[in-house]
Amino acid sequence: MSYLETAHELYKEASQEVQENLCCVEKPAQLLPELTIPREMSSMDYGCGTTVHLGELSSNETILYVGIGGGMEALQFAYFTRRPGAVIAVDRVVEMMEKAKANFKIAEQMNPWFKSEFVNVVRGDALDLPIPSECVDVAAQNCLFNIFKEEDLLIALKEMYRVLKPGGRLYISDPITTQPIPESLRNDERLRAMCLSGALSFDAYVQKVIEAGFGEVQIRARRPYRLLDKETYSIDDILLETLELVAVKVLCKEEEAEVFAGETAIYNGKEIACIDNVGQVYKRGIPVSVSQRIAKRLRQRDDFVVTPPTYHYIGHKSANSSCCCCG
Ligand SMILES: C[S@@+](CC[C@H](N)C(=O)[O-])C[C@H]1O[C@@H](n2cnc3c(N)ncnc32)[C@H](O)[C@@H]1O
Repeated sequence: MSYLETAHELYKEASQEVQENLCCVEKPAQLLPELTIPREMSSMDYGCGTTVHLGELSSNETILYVGIGGGMEALQFAYFTRRPGAVIAVDRVVEMMEKAKANFKIAEQMNPWFKSEFVNVVRGDALDLPIPSECVDVAAQNCLFNIFKEEDLLIALKEMYRVLKPGGRLYISDPITTQPIPESLRNDERLRAMCLSGALSFDAYVQKVIEAGFGEVQIRARRPYRLLDKETYSIDDILLETLELVAVKVLCKEEEAEVFAGETAIYNGKEIACIDNVGQVYKRGIPVSVSQRIAKRLRQRDDFVVTPPTYHYIGHKSANSSCCCCG
């Protein structure tokens, strides 16, 4: 049995009987007017964060959700789209698909605006999506890709890239590790399937997203997810974190991809302002969001203060300021 089939079996079990400690983290419910999440769904929250970023979704978008679980995030996305088939949810485990469909029926009873047909549940694999190229505006996955080995992770990310329209956004919530995970745990297929031992480091994960073709990556959150503790695993404690990010399908060379992690650059030179060669204005004393690459460059200068990453980046006015040569 391959490690992918081990995961398949685990999620078949998790569709029949709720696994309380699987993946999920303590988090407040996303309260939205007139949205009631059935308990059957919230108790099957097998995500390690969220991919539903309120305020960034519009009703005319088509959304692909890979790895449906109990259907909670697909329902949350459907809250915004409210059209038949506007949310396409792909899963490889038939039992999980059936469970999600049953949960949508319950959600229909509790939410007068919702119809099950708003979510088109499709059987398929993240590694070979049954979706034509360039046909969705948004793609999302929560706590699935980390179970893939590195070569498969890249395939899964490239599949998301393929199906997104140009300019489309990929929303990810997945575990990462703060220290190397011993091979013995990485090779434990059940632990990997439980989202406990397949995690990459922050840098390695972001690099994979870039390698898949995404030209802009915005880091939205990093927060504790699990401790692989010495009592249970006979290793030095390893902290796993949840990484939430948004990757945008903009074309550029891999080495020119921009990663925004919440760093800002503040001009503190003699002039009132300084402008770089792509027109980005840095007014003296005013923080401007910059990518990791620009932050690194501006840290070399004594007329800029560059603040450390917050890993909580919520947008910028101009995404294309690719270098600074002001003054
Ligand atoms: C950890 S659960 C996450 C569920 C959901 N995203 C959530 O946040 O609650 C992983 C999901 O991916 C599905 N899955 C597992 N392997 C898959 C694959 N290769 N392709 C697509 N879906 C898969 C499982 O059936 C399950 O629904």
